[in-house]
Amino acid sequence: MSVIKIKNVTKAFGDKVVLKSFDAVFRDGEFITLLGPSGCGKTTMLRMIAGFERPTSGEIWFDDKLVSGGKTFLPPEKREIGMVFQSYAVWPHMNVYDNVAYPLTIRHCPKAETGERVGRILEITHLGQYAKRFPNQLSGGQQQRVALARALVAEPKLLLLDEPLSNLDAKLRESMRFEIKEIQRKLGITVVYVTHDQTEAMAMSDRIFLINGGEVQQYGSPEEIYNAPVNQFVADFLGKVDFFKGEVRQGRIVFPAMGGQSIAYDGGRTGKVDVAVRPENIFFSENGELEGVLETHYYLGDTDDCRVRVGDATVRVITDGFGYAQRQPGRKVKLSIRSFMVFEDDGMLETMLRIQT
Ligand SMILES: Nc1ncnc2c1ncn2[C@@H]1O[C@H](COP(=O)(O)OP(=O)(O)O)[C@@H](O)[C@H]1O
Ligand SMILES: [Mg+2]
Repeated sequence: MSVIKIKNVTKAFGDKVVLKSFDAVFRDGEFITLLGPSGCGKTTMLRMIAGFERPTSGEIWFDDKLVSGGKTFLPPEKREIGMVFQSYAVWPHMNVYDNVAYPLTIRHCPKAETGERVGRILEITHLGQYAKRFPNQLSGGQQQRVALARALVAEPKLLLLDEPLSNLDAKLRESMRFEIKEIQRKLGITVVYVTHDQTEAMAMSDRIFLINGGEVQQYGSPEEIYNAPVNQFVADFLGKVDFFKGEVRQGRIVFPAMGGQSIAYDGGRTGKVDVAVRPENIFFSENGELEGVLETHYYLGDTDDCRVRVGDATVRVITDGFGYAQRQPGRKVKLSIRSFMVFEDDGMLETMLRIQT
């Protein structure tokens, strides 16, 4: 069991507040990601959960036990957590087996039991065949798996990971995502994962807490946050999006930058609005509402990333890679929008519409 409750936690370094009133409950066995741009306070939050930093105010609970708050402060070694950081912190002079066994060795765990537990973890992390190798004989991904195995061998209730994949190349990063997720599922532990990489967060998380400037902007499942962002920052940070200034007039949103072209609208807003469109939600269509000229496109194999000039505006369209040869720059095209979001002036989401054309 490991439920983490963070109650109204604020952290300041000197007079600089880096986290404001953080409130959250991480459920037992959940994969939680703290996501946000560099400097938003992710690592600081993780270090407070680990016990390397004290909250300036507020409380942190593990199950029914207060670990930080008031006069209480449990040091990291008493919190039963595993941690892995960005750099592969493995001992260069020890082979894989000894590296992974280390947390048990310092606890004077009996040899037979150590062997059994290390063996099991090496299997789960696919390192069994490398037990005798030294870190300099391993790839970056393998070294990071050693760090992971070492964090897991003491069977922590809670695993904290701070950008553990950011030093790996793109392909390895992708496969490690699945491996970490798989390990978490097998062991049923709670994971708090820190990253600035939105794709990583989308792929791995049960729930994402999206932070900006020390404040949680929104939390929820990847689908919830992607499809119903509460403000423009969230819409922009998670996924690709273009914003267009428009004005609601007689059942349509008119875009001045598009030379007055418009799209149908039956929402509740009047006056000036910001319309957000994800480029995968626009498509080429004979009877599209918007008319423009294909400016350029980037064929990426699986997709074709197109820019269409509509009046003075550039509209990004991501379509599948198939048929890219017909998309010659300079061609007149028509565009339909499958769904879009309408934001009020204060940046908050008013509604989300789906039109089928
Ligand atoms: N020990 C510290 N002393 C002073 N400022 C710090 C300290 N640790 C972090 N900060 C500041 O707190 C903010 C959040 O940092 P951090 O939690 O590392 O962000 P992230 O992990 O999201 O990139 C940054 O502005 C950083 O400079
Ligand atoms: Mg960080």
